Formats: sequence, structure tokens, C-alpha cells
Amino acid sequence: MIFLGIETSCDETSAAVYDSCSGIKSSVISSQIDIHSRYGGVVPEIASRNHALKIETVFYEAIEKASISVSDIDAVGVTRAPGLIGALFVGVSFAKGLSYALKIPLIPVNHLSAHIISAELTHPELVPPYTGLIISGGHSHIYQVDKSYNFRLFSYTVDDAAGEAFDKVAKMMGLAYPGGPAIENLSTKGNPDAVKFPVAMKAQSNMSFSGLKTAVMNCLNQGYFTKADIAASFQSTLVQTLINKSQIALKHFNSDKLVISGGVACNGYLRDKFLEYFKDSCDIYFPSKYLCTDNGDMIAYAAYKFMHFRKFLDIKGTARDNESS
Ligand code: KG4
Ligand code: ZN
Repeated sequence: MIFLGIETSCDETSAAVYDSCSGIKSSVISSQIDIHSRYGGVVPEIASRNHALKIETVFYEAIEKASISVSDIDAVGVTRAPGLIGALFVGVSFAKGLSYALKIPLIPVNHLSAHIISAELTHPELVPPYTGLIISGGHSHIYQVDKSYNFRLFSYTVDDAAGEAFDKVAKMMGLAYPGGPAIENLSTKGNPDAVKFPVAMKAQSNMSFSGLKTAVMNCLNQGYFTKADIAASFQSTLVQTLINKSQIALKHFNSDKLVISGGVACNGYLRDKFLEYFKDSCDIYFPSKYLCTDNGDMIAYAAYKFMHFRKFLDIKGTARDNESS
């Protein structure tokens, strides 16, 4: 079967084609990063307008690159939440139109679930049950995924998401949006042990990053440490927190497989630290860096998986939902 995946939850307009026999056939992403970087973050109204401008071109490009015609599509998956409401609306409206015109199922996909199971595209040997840590611009959640792709939320941030903390700290330092890559880059010139930042909610399963952000601001204002040392120490504290929370979750579920996904999972320092820490106790699965940030591939693949497990809403919205968050 041929699945089309559409993603418009934030600042990337993306469409991809997944063939259940041969895998991903095409993937097209139109990024708005250059537009939003002028404002130091994503401006929701501008994002929606640009999705509306780009969605049709991105769709036809994905069809052409996959060497199929529109009528070959058997089902359309679309990100339905979470995300910017106006941005989501563009993708959902487009997908609904296709579903109606082609008389094919419409499969609403939860963005976070898709981020997690996208690791299976990079690691075909990976099958649930597994634990999934999702670290993006809007979320820091840990789920347990059972063998039927039911997602059970175990841990979440009570304030800022990990990516949001990277973005805000970068902004404080006058670095460009998105802040994650900028902080990672600057950190290579700094000492991760220079500043001892506080770790909030140490013994609990949930996380908090707003105190860390404030501590970084205070440290910058004091002017004692270099920006590179502060960036490296911030990054190291945040990564150590994520390792601790993952450890608690793995122990709770007696799990030996950890998937780490979402934009922050592109971070090379984080990847090295997780692999090193869990090398004897757990298998770590990162999606490729391309799949860690927002893309249509993960939506098309999730649509395939959720349809297989009969967890989808059809166009009339009568069937079961596909996620628990
Ligand atoms: O998953 P994603 O592309 O979009 C959301 O669903 O939010 O994640 C975007 C987030 C941004 O906060 C960005 O700063 C962060 O991922 N990010 C990184 C890196 N690359 C992107 N954070 C740390 N290190 C990176 N290399
Ligand atoms: Zn995302």
C-alpha cells in the first residue's frame, strides 16, 4: 500500500510517500527557519500562511519524486496534534480534501508518537515494546510503547521543553534561532564542568528546565564565565537530567530498549553521552538526524503502522484515536 504523510505542525511543510513493501519512496521538506530566525522564534501566523503557500507544491514534488500518480495513494496520514493550531489546520484541511476526493482513508497521527516510531525507519530491527524519550521544541516526554503501539505517558516536563530551553538560552546569548545547533556548536569551545548548574526535581520522574534557564541568565549577568563555558555547562546539565529521567523510566518498565527522538536528539554531545552511559544496560536507538526534526516520512510511516493496528480515525471520525497524550 502507498501512504502519503503530511506534516505542518510547526515551521516545516513536509510531504513523504511510504510504500509498505519498499519503504520511503520520497520526502520533501520546505523549511521556514530563515523566515522565523528574523524574529528569534516561530511566529504562528506567519507559519500558517507559509504552510498554505507551500503545501500544494510540496505535495506534488513528493508525488513526482516517488514516481507515482496521485491516484496511486491508498491512504493519507496527517499530523493532527500537538502543534500550532493554524499550522495544523493547513495540513489537516489539505489531507481531508485529498481523502475526500480520492475516497481513501484519512489517518490522523499524533506528532509525538510519529517522532518516536520514526526510529524504526532507521533501525528496521527495532520492534516494540520499548521506551521512548521525545525531546523537541515543544515537548519533553517519556512514553512506554507496548507491542500494539499503545503509548503510555510516564514522564513530562512541568515547564519548558528541552528544545525550548536550548532556544531561550541561545537567545539570551544573542545566538541565532534555532538555538539547539548554535549552543551545541558554541559548547565545543567550552568546558562542560565549568559551571555547576542546579538540577531540579532530581528524585522525581518528571522534569523541569525553567530553573536551569534562570540559572544560566544569572550566570550570564554575573559575567564571570565565558559564554562557551556557560553553554557547555548548560548542555551537559540538561543532558544529564534527561539521562537520569530515562534511567528512572527504564527501571520502572524493566525495559532494555530506549528510543530517543525529536529535534534535540540531533545533538551530537547528547548522542555520545547516552550511548556511553547506557552501553552495558540498554540498547539505544536514535533515528537518523534527518528524521529527528519534523518531516513527512514519520507521519507516513506512523499512518501505515496505526492503520495496520486499526488505530485510526476515518474521514467520518468514527474509529478510535491513535494516541494517549
Ligand atoms: O522536533 P523539532 O524539529 O520540532 C518540534 O516538534 O518542536 O524540534 C525543534 C527543536 C528546537 O528547539 C531546536 O533548537 C532543537 O530541536 N534542536 C536541537 C538541535 N537541533 C535542533 N537542540 C539541541 N541540539 C541540536 N543539535
Ligand atoms: Zn517535532
